[in-house]
Amino acid sequence: MTALADWMQQCGLDRRDAQVLVAAALGLSRAQQMAHPEHPLETTDLARLNVLASRVRAGEPVAYVLGEKEFFGLTFQVGPDVLIPRPDTELLVECALHRLDALPTADSPRSVLDLGTGSGAIAVAIAHARAAVQVWAVDVSDAALAVAQANARRLLDPQRAGGAIHFVQSDWFAALQNCEPASRFDCIVANPPYVAQGDPHLAALRYEPALALTGQHPSPTGLDDLRRIAAQAGAFLRAGGWLLLEHGWDQAAAVGALLTAQGWEAVSSVNDLAGIARVTAARWPQKVPHAPKIG
Ligand SMILES: C[S@@+](CC[C@H](N)C(=O)[O-])C[C@H]1O[C@@H](n2cnc3c(N)ncnc32)[C@H](O)[C@@H]1O
Repeated sequence: MTALADWMQQCGLDRRDAQVLVAAALGLSRAQQMAHPEHPLETTDLARLNVLASRVRAGEPVAYVLGEKEFFGLTFQVGPDVLIPRPDTELLVECALHRLDALPTADSPRSVLDLGTGSGAIAVAIAHARAAVQVWAVDVSDAALAVAQANARRLLDPQRAGGAIHFVQSDWFAALQNCEPASRFDCIVANPPYVAQGDPHLAALRYEPALALTGQHPSPTGLDDLRRIAAQAGAFLRAGGWLLLEHGWDQAAAVGALLTAQGWEAVSSVNDLAGIARVTAARWPQKVPHAPKIG
């Protein structure tokens, strides 16, 4: 019978991916795998592991092979209709929670809008972490919204004070214009498509939806959706509310400049653990500089 350690050596995967597959397929934690490398693999287990490993060797992300990905301490179901949530995006959630907590206490519940919710990772993580916050989540993709709704149902307490997440199919803000009363949010968060058309990294991301990476209208800079959101978000924020945008590793200066040009204040970028500016935050002023464009 093949020992676990031998399969690990022969499977052609990096060690971490192999351990994640074994954990999911056999229910053996990484600690158990490391403590018992001699663990014998039954023929059926071996066959199952080999099928999973061949998909990963062919380039399919482990998260799609397993159908799940951990994000902000929660296990999200994922599939080809949604971007796999990235650890970098946890910074966006942390920034949102930090700003929500710093707002003065109010009579009405706090509200957050997640634009381009995908798997629901950001919206569900915020709703899970702050039970009283009302959360709205938008995506243009019906298939993505179905995944996000299923994750919300599985991961959130049905009795949470903020209620169920409001999911809306919309091209950014288009369908929100008639949604009252939550049209004035305390915080808007977005991890929109920002990969430039023709970016060489797209080849390695071929299993993920193009809509999530380059958007409906791919652009040479990848900044078009960030610009549209920045131009429209002020109309949906309370005065003093925050817009938090995730962007590419080299886009912070451009995003900061377009926010400043559109009248946002307190524009600043936040670094991820690798020291890369990943999130840019901006506050909608008390005194509105101009009527933001809708549409
Ligand atoms: C980069 S993914 C982010 C997914 C998820 N929020 C996350 O962080 O893992 C961008 C999401 O924006 C959605 N999207 C793209 N264009 C859109 C649009 N015009 N309006 C609304 N959502 C859009 C995509 O379907 C995709 O789910």
